[in-house]
Amino acid sequence: MSTVARTDASEIAVHWKEEEYIQPSARFIGQANLTDPGVVERFTEEKFPECFREYADLLTWDEYWHTTLDTSRPPFWKWFVGGRLNASYNCVDRHLAAHKNKAALIFVPEAETEPAHALTYQELYTRVNEVAAVLRDFCGLTAGDRVTIHMPMILELPITMLACARLGIIHSVVFGGFSGEAAGLRAADSDSRVMIYADAYYRNGKLIDHKANADIAVRTAEGEGQRIEKVLVWRRHPGQDLTNAAMVPGRDYYMDDLLKGYRRVKVAPVSVESEHPLFLMYTSGSTGKPKGCQHRTGGYLAYVTGTAKYYQDLHPEDVYWCMADIGWITGHSYIVYGPLALGATSVIFEGVPNYPDAGRPWRIAEQLDVNIFHTSPTAIRMLRKAGPDEPAKYAYRFKHMTTVGEPIEPEAWRWYHEVVGKGEAVIVDTWWQTETGGFLITTKPALDPMKAGSAGPPALGIFPVIYDENGKEIPGGSGKAGNICIRNPWPSIMQTIWKDDDRFVRQYYAKYCRNPKSTDWRDWPYFAADGAVLAPDGYYRILGRVDDVINVAGHRIGTKEVESACLTVPQVAEAAVVPVVDEIRGRMPTIYVSLKPGVADPQKVSEQIVATVETIIGKIARPKGVHIVPDLPKTRSGKIMRRILAAISNRMDTGDVTTLANPEIVEQIRKQVQGEGPVEMQEGPEDVKHFGEQE
Ligand code: WTA
Repeated sequence: MSTVARTDASEIAVHWKEEEYIQPSARFIGQANLTDPGVVERFTEEKFPECFREYADLLTWDEYWHTTLDTSRPPFWKWFVGGRLNASYNCVDRHLAAHKNKAALIFVPEAETEPAHALTYQELYTRVNEVAAVLRDFCGLTAGDRVTIHMPMILELPITMLACARLGIIHSVVFGGFSGEAAGLRAADSDSRVMIYADAYYRNGKLIDHKANADIAVRTAEGEGQRIEKVLVWRRHPGQDLTNAAMVPGRDYYMDDLLKGYRRVKVAPVSVESEHPLFLMYTSGSTGKPKGCQHRTGGYLAYVTGTAKYYQDLHPEDVYWCMADIGWITGHSYIVYGPLALGATSVIFEGVPNYPDAGRPWRIAEQLDVNIFHTSPTAIRMLRKAGPDEPAKYAYRFKHMTTVGEPIEPEAWRWYHEVVGKGEAVIVDTWWQTETGGFLITTKPALDPMKAGSAGPPALGIFPVIYDENGKEIPGGSGKAGNICIRNPWPSIMQTIWKDDDRFVRQYYAKYCRNPKSTDWRDWPYFAADGAVLAPDGYYRILGRVDDVINVAGHRIGTKEVESACLTVPQVAEAAVVPVVDEIRGRMPTIYVSLKPGVADPQKVSEQIVATVETIIGKIARPKGVHIVPDLPKTRSGKIMRRILAAISNRMDTGDVTTLANPEIVEQIRKQVQGEGPVEMQEGPEDVKHFGEQE
């Protein structure tokens, strides 16, 4: 039990200036998919859940469903029950009749000397079929099997995902920047016996040898008791050897070699039930290991297709570029499944936005005539810092832009709007999560005005509520923050945590469930673990995580995961990880450790800690700093007070520390981190201010 009094979220007043409304241009409205204000009437609470037929009807069903929503076993909702479909058919085959020669995907390699490569729907169809044949006939995989895909941003990644979907194989894509160990643990958790890799890829001007990660992943999975029978390796340049890691005979196979045996083979799409899992996506939670968010086929595909159409305003003739990585949920929903289901053209970029310089994204936009652009606040901050005047130099014209992944400061938003969007493009700030599959809060781009820094009103058919810690609703316009929840189920809410139904219920529903026996969805609000405030006009402003997750550049890093990585360094006695505000990346982890007695070279231990975090999790979790301290601040019952460390790292008031078991350590750590002289205290953002309070 904590001895420090906890402030109830409902008592936290949030202060900021209300921003002005900005209206969408007549030019945008004139061509938008969603311009009928009557749509709101079609998606009222009275019309729920049948309103979501409108999204499901965008798909081609092998068998139409009989029940829109089955609530008989909350919170394990079932959507479009009785329906059968295939996701790969919906994203590929059905477009052939009208659009076979149209670009489905355009691959932009990192090196500007390597030309962009457009893949038509017909070519996509051929390649997806051939890969599906390898998975079925060479690997012996069938519907329901899991495959772990650890690949960078190359065309073969979506091709492989769609080949899995064609057979009903559940893919689990692990972000390419994660370590081999992280991929191996995920492969073991999902019982994958096949892993799919790329040999190498270009990033920041360097060729990264990725195959080496496969060997680490296989070893790690085997350490967890999961044997990986086959590793399929895509070559960045077919026929050329780019990796230094040896191919293990009888286990590792180059895809370009295997595919020679499957030229033009066709694989009939396997018709699966609506509820058949389409994929797993692992994400960090409050405690323990990453959880495999399990997404269904029918509801997920319907929702991402509907939302890509209405909120991204995708038309088949647009060129759409989402700069996220397919290894995250944004890439799954809004690079691959949503856009392809709509028959759009989706750009895939191998590199980083500021290489070789901050003009690169705008050159790509100019060259390909990109007119819909999607990125994160971190990329916006970075591009703004590195090249504030670059966009004006290029003759592209965006009609629509998205920001997603973290709260965006109004100042960065305005640069995005005025400079990147040239004052003309509409912006949607879409709030959602890996768990939610698709957008939950966003403006309807032709219908709702924009407000810098606010995500906006709820998406159609989504009914949010903000609760205080005791489940009391915090009304709009009160200026108070609380926990944002969604009162109703929606088609793309995750089905469960892979192999862990109990954790699913505990994590997302236990907190505010009114009656665990009830089969009425109204008793089961979904707890998102984000703080939010509702303005009088019905616009939500998202403040950030309320749990032990640090949002690094839009990517969720569990503090507990980083702490356990630190503890694998033998000299470390105790570790605490806290978020520190970073100008570009939003938040970064900072590590505090105390060492076992008699360690000679603390500097070396520091370096070892950084290296270990990168090995176990990946470079994405690289700390901003490592502080080796004599002891960590603790309560009398021995709990580490992360809240105090977060305050020190962010130059915020540490509050009352007199009740600690070792109050004197706080001043000592403060001097060590901030220096001896006087320090100007900061107010600190909401999520950092309340970090560690849940403990
Ligand atoms: C944060 C990414 C503010 C939030 C799609 C959420 C946002 C977490 C926004 C999910 C936004 C996402 N404004 N914060 N528009 N979008 N977040 O699972 O804290 O990688 O809980 O999904 O990102 O991250 P995830």
